[in-house]
Amino acid sequence: MKHCRSCNAQTKPVANFGTMPISNRFVDTPNEPEYEFELTVEFCPDCYLVQLGDAVEPQEMFNDAYAFFSSTSNSMQEHFKQQAQMIQEKLLLRDNPFVVELGCNDGIMLRHIAEIGIDHLGVEPSGNVALAAEQNGVMVTTEFFNLATAKTIKSQYGSADVICGSNVVCHIEDINSVFAGVSELLSRDGTFFFEDPYIFDIIKKSSFDQIYDEHLFYFSCLSVEKLASRHGLTLVDVEMLDVHGGEARYFVQHTKVAKPSQRLIDQLEREKEHNLNDGVAYIKFAESAAEIAKELRQILNELTQKGEEIIAYGATSKSATLLNYSGITNQDIKCVFDNTPAKIGKFTPRTHIPIVSYENLDQHPGKHVLLLAWNHAKEIKRKERVFIENGGKFIETFPRVRVE
Ligand code: TYD
Repeated sequence: MKHCRSCNAQTKPVANFGTMPISNRFVDTPNEPEYEFELTVEFCPDCYLVQLGDAVEPQEMFNDAYAFFSSTSNSMQEHFKQQAQMIQEKLLLRDNPFVVELGCNDGIMLRHIAEIGIDHLGVEPSGNVALAAEQNGVMVTTEFFNLATAKTIKSQYGSADVICGSNVVCHIEDINSVFAGVSELLSRDGTFFFEDPYIFDIIKKSSFDQIYDEHLFYFSCLSVEKLASRHGLTLVDVEMLDVHGGEARYFVQHTKVAKPSQRLIDQLEREKEHNLNDGVAYIKFAESAAEIAKELRQILNELTQKGEEIIAYGATSKSATLLNYSGITNQDIKCVFDNTPAKIGKFTPRTHIPIVSYENLDQHPGKHVLLLAWNHAKEIKRKERVFIENGGKFIETFPRVRVE
C-alpha cells in the first residue's frame, strides 16, 4: 500500500514496467555494477497526481556522472531563448527584478537573462552541469531547492519576481517542500512557472518511455491545481508546449492576487472529459504500452532475421524504459548515435548498447534506425535528409510502431 507524496491519501497501482536501471547513468563498461529499481506507476484518487511507486535516491540520479546537458539540441536552445524572452516581456514588470531558476542545468535559459543584466540565481544540484552554467556566465548555487534553500535565498537576495523550473519540478520527491519554498520566496505579485511532461499528452501518444526514474510526477492541471492550493498558491494559467514529446507550462501565483485564465478553465474541462481524475484512463494506457513493446520486439526480430543491421538514434534518458521494457539489447541494436560528448564511448544502462559519435547517417551501412530521440524527430529528419532520400527508414514507436 502506497501513499500520495502530495496529499498523503492512499494511491492505486496503475502500471508496472519491471526492473529498470538509472536512465541517465551511461556505463563505462558493460561489467559495471548497476543500480536497479522497480518502475511502477500509482494514481492518487484524491488529488489526481500520477507518480512513481518507488523513488530513486536523488544522489543516485543527479551527481557528477549526470550526463544530461540541455544545450545539445538546437530546438531546445531556441525553446529556452524564447522562454527567456517570455519572462522578460510578460513577467518582469517592475524595476530591478530577480529571477530564480530551479535546476538551471548548463544555463541554457538563464544565460539569456544574465546577458541582459537581470539579477538571477540558478539552483542546480548536479555539480558538473552547474559548472557548465557558471562558464556560461550564470550565477549558480549547487543545491537542491526546498523550503530551507528558499529561506536562505530570500535572506541573501530578497524575494523573487519570477521562479521557474523546466524539467525539474517533476523530479523532486518532497514536492510539498518545493511549493512551500516557492510560496516563501515568491514576491507578492510574482509568478512561478514550471514545465514538465504532460500526462494528457503521454496518454494520448501512449508514450510510456516518458516514465522513468527522474520523472517522479506526471502532472495535469487537475493535480497542480490541488497541489498549489495547499500552499496558499493558485494555478492561474497553462500553456501547451511542443517539446520533450509534449509538455505543459503551469503558471502559479499567490492566491491573494490570482485570476485563473479562460485557457486554464477550458483545459481543466478537457482533462475531466478524458477521465484524468479517474484511474481507469491510466490502466488503459498501461495496456497500450504493453502492445507497443510487443510490436516493436516483433519488428526488430523480423528485421534482424533478414540480416538487417539496426542502429538507434539519440541515447535519451527515456530510451532506458523503452529498451528495457521491450527487452531490447545490444543483440538487437548495433550502436546508438549521439552527439553528447559525455555519452560517447559509453554504453546504454543495462542494455549495454555502445554509444558512438557520427558524422553522417547515410555513410553507415545500417538502413533501419530506431528513433529513440523521437521528440526531436523534425530536427533529426531535416538533418538526415540524404539518408532518407537514399532509402533509409526510421522505426518510430508512438502512438504506434511504424517503419517509414
Ligand atoms: P532528450 O531530448 O534530452 O531526451 P531525454 O530527456 O529523454 O534524455 O535527448 C536527446 C538525445 O539525443 C541527447 O542525448 C542528444 C541526442 N541528439 C543527437 O544525438 N542528435 C540530434 O540531432 C539531436 C536533436 C539529439
